[in-house]
Amino acid sequence: MSAWSLSPLPIIGAPMAGTGTPALAAAISDAGGLGIFPGGYLTGEKLAEGIDAVRALTDRPFGVNLFLPTPVDEERDGDRLRSYAEALAPVAMSAEVELPTPRWDGSDNFRDKIEVLEQARIPLVSFIFGVPPVDSVQRLHAAGSVVMATVTDSSEARAAVDVGADLLCLQGTDAGGHRGTHRVDAEPNNQGWRELLPAVLAEVAIPVVVAGGVMSAQDVTDALAAGAVAVQCGSAFLLTDESGMNDAYRAGFTDPALTEQVVTRAFSGRPARAIRNGFVARLDPVAVPVYPIVNQLTKPLRAAGAATGDRDLVSLWAGTGWRQARPGPAADIVAALAAEVAEKSQSSRWPRSL
Ligand SMILES: Cc1cc2nc3c(=O)[nH]c(=O)nc-3n(C[C@H](O)[C@H](O)[C@H](O)COP(=O)(O)O)c2cc1C
Repeated sequence: MSAWSLSPLPIIGAPMAGTGTPALAAAISDAGGLGIFPGGYLTGEKLAEGIDAVRALTDRPFGVNLFLPTPVDEERDGDRLRSYAEALAPVAMSAEVELPTPRWDGSDNFRDKIEVLEQARIPLVSFIFGVPPVDSVQRLHAAGSVVMATVTDSSEARAAVDVGADLLCLQGTDAGGHRGTHRVDAEPNNQGWRELLPAVLAEVAIPVVVAGGVMSAQDVTDALAAGAVAVQCGSAFLLTDESGMNDAYRAGFTDPALTEQVVTRAFSGRPARAIRNGFVARLDPVAVPVYPIVNQLTKPLRAAGAATGDRDLVSLWAGTGWRQARPGPAADIVAALAAEVAEKSQSSRWPRSL
């Protein structure tokens, strides 16, 4: 690829499936950062609508994020899923919801969404939960997109380089929400980006963005000093005016009584960092690694929690720095994170030429 230019500031607003909004992505881009609209869990049609909604709000570059498909196998995992459904049954009964019959489909409409992105010519397309197929990378490159792959260690970083990624998002254990570990059944490492970055930089020659627990201007300074070209922040934007956080999630996220975090498969089958609530306490011990089918099973429970304001039924995704999250316009958060970014150093490294 030739020179690319994404945003004046090396601050990326993380895609947050279920919680991110077109308004949040647009506000971050308008403030000089790079917003990423979350395409995970959406159909191609809904993704196209989301992209149009971002474009109606901003002329600035923004990104879109997709989940890689996860192979599913009912024969292999059916029993494990049924045992988890049994554990969920009493919770569903008291919430007065019915557990759905699962669809054994882990594609997340990936092919349809690649087509949408190819047409829409998005400045940056990021991926999580694996590496994109080479032909998808080539199609996105032909459409002018920079391709970023989420990785959690050096060997995943190498795999991303091998398929032609331009940029890595190195996600450490501090990150809120799902860990992007490529293999669904692998246990994620418990290293933060501060520990992981030197090994990854020694391994690959492409630029690296870091994610996980970046909440302050000091964290951004540390990341750039350590060799990252930019940071990707999720939790820092969760309480902003433009966030799509529902009331139950907000209640749990801000409740001083909830003090513990866990990395749990209880909500989706993939490891994700959340604040420990009633759901986690009850279901984490029996959770099974059957992503994304577990996500389908728990969806009506989470929806019931969101509808009734019950913070013990929703996924309280949060990074380790969640207590530092502040309400207000997303633009203020971008400005606070970028407060120590020196004009000179950022213009030489982000955006940059490949
Ligand atoms: C509510 C929430 C939803 C998330 N959804 C996604 C997603 O859809 N795609 C993705 O690549 N990462 C997702 N992540 C992970 C972020 O990209 C990022 O790695 C993480 O927020 C960084 O850690 P921090 O929350 O401490 O800033 C999500 C994180 C949160 C908190």
